[in-house]
Amino acid sequence: MNEEEVWHIEPSGPLRGDVVVRGSKNGVSKHMVAAMLGGGESTIHNAPEVGEVHITAAMLRALGIEVEISNSEIRIARGPEINPRVPAEYTGLNRIPILMLGPLLHLAGEAFVPLVGGDPIGRRPIDFHVDALRQMGAEVEISDKGVYAKAKRLQGTRIVLPYPSVGATETILMSAVLAEGKTVLKNAATEPEVVELALFLQRMGALIELSPDRRIVIEGVERLHGASTWLAGDRIEAFSYLAAGLVTGGEVRVHGCHQDRLVTAITTLARMGAQFEINDEYLCATKPPEGLRSAAVQTDTHPGFMTDWQTPLMVLFTQSQGMSVLHETVFENRLVYVPALQKMGCEIEVFDQCLGGPACRYHDTNAKHSAVVRGVSKLRGADVTLPDIRAGFSAVLAAAVADGASVLRGVHHIERGYHHPFEQFVSLGLNLSKGTAPRV
Ligand code: EPU
Repeated sequence: MNEEEVWHIEPSGPLRGDVVVRGSKNGVSKHMVAAMLGGGESTIHNAPEVGEVHITAAMLRALGIEVEISNSEIRIARGPEINPRVPAEYTGLNRIPILMLGPLLHLAGEAFVPLVGGDPIGRRPIDFHVDALRQMGAEVEISDKGVYAKAKRLQGTRIVLPYPSVGATETILMSAVLAEGKTVLKNAATEPEVVELALFLQRMGALIELSPDRRIVIEGVERLHGASTWLAGDRIEAFSYLAAGLVTGGEVRVHGCHQDRLVTAITTLARMGAQFEINDEYLCATKPPEGLRSAAVQTDTHPGFMTDWQTPLMVLFTQSQGMSVLHETVFENRLVYVPALQKMGCEIEVFDQCLGGPACRYHDTNAKHSAVVRGVSKLRGADVTLPDIRAGFSAVLAAAVADGASVLRGVHHIERGYHHPFEQFVSLGLNLSKGTAPRV
């Protein structure tokens, strides 16, 4: 146990080729949880092969749900008995257990989920989820082990989210569809993955209205049935590979993710000078001969520039002409990966002020959530530890344009969220190999 898996990356020149992205990591796990609510079997097609799917499948099986995974297809059906407790061994692995509370309350009248994890990109509280369930009539107790809830039947109600949280909107959707009466949710998240989940629930027999102004109205029904769906392409992965092509001066054609999921991303990159080819088969971005220009970008909820796109963007900033500014407004601590990039020579300075956009929720906190980036930085290979999924991908991009070899630790983060990233990078021409190294 004194060795850990690492990736070795040598400078390899422009990355070129085709990448087919599968359904999104942040969509697939929620669909798996939603499928618990159906009386019959559900099938999810175009699922990515990512660690997140296996973690979610193991949790569902522990609850008595049958899950079969075969390549890109996941079949889910309720078994004869439901165990309403997610075992403690799943503590801190990802954000999915909290989403199981509502469905378990419907199936068993009670639920226990261990403390949720997720990437260390902020406090990642669960208060919106818990408050919503309480408003729907559940009794909820929180301890240092996890969350216990019970309810005879959840009741529809009016809920206003303090912030349009993706996860809390999903909790409310999956709790309200079988509740008694109508739930009116205001200030809901409208991310494409949330809408996709609502459409899946509608296929299962739910009554859901998506209204303007972040309002969702859900009329509870008595039961839901199984359904089948094809997941839409992962827009985070698509952006990440577009950035991989751009930053190395190559050309990566990204298939499997429709343009409408990348509108703000495409416009942002195009403003920086990226030249796009977009057709019904693929998207591709190339660097102009004079190089990319700097930009000021603020992350936001949909349809703004998504927070998960900012990590590859930061590496692009280091390879663009001039000073760029990034203002992260969704998670307070999303710039946690900057020290790893600094170690590789990226000239990035972080600030607790709101730079590059109007004041956000973090303006009077100590959260370092803005960054100024100097391009073009000369990057050097280094031995770095990856703190989370998206940061992991960015470190690969930085290593790809660095002088000298890099060693990346914590690569399991990348494998939790990207479909076969090692093979994809190798197919694009990255000089990448797996190995082990003594733990640091
Ligand atoms: N928030 C609260 N209380 C809550 C819930 C959220 O204060 O009870 C706050 C968060 O702290 C954050 C903001 O609300 O500041 C937004 O969080 P949100 O709930 O929208 O995020 P999430 O559901 O935890 C999902 C994705 C993230 C993605 C965000 C934003 C999954 C599993 N995760 O997180 O993806 O960045 O939405 O789009 O779907 C990733 O894939 O690497 C990732 C982190």
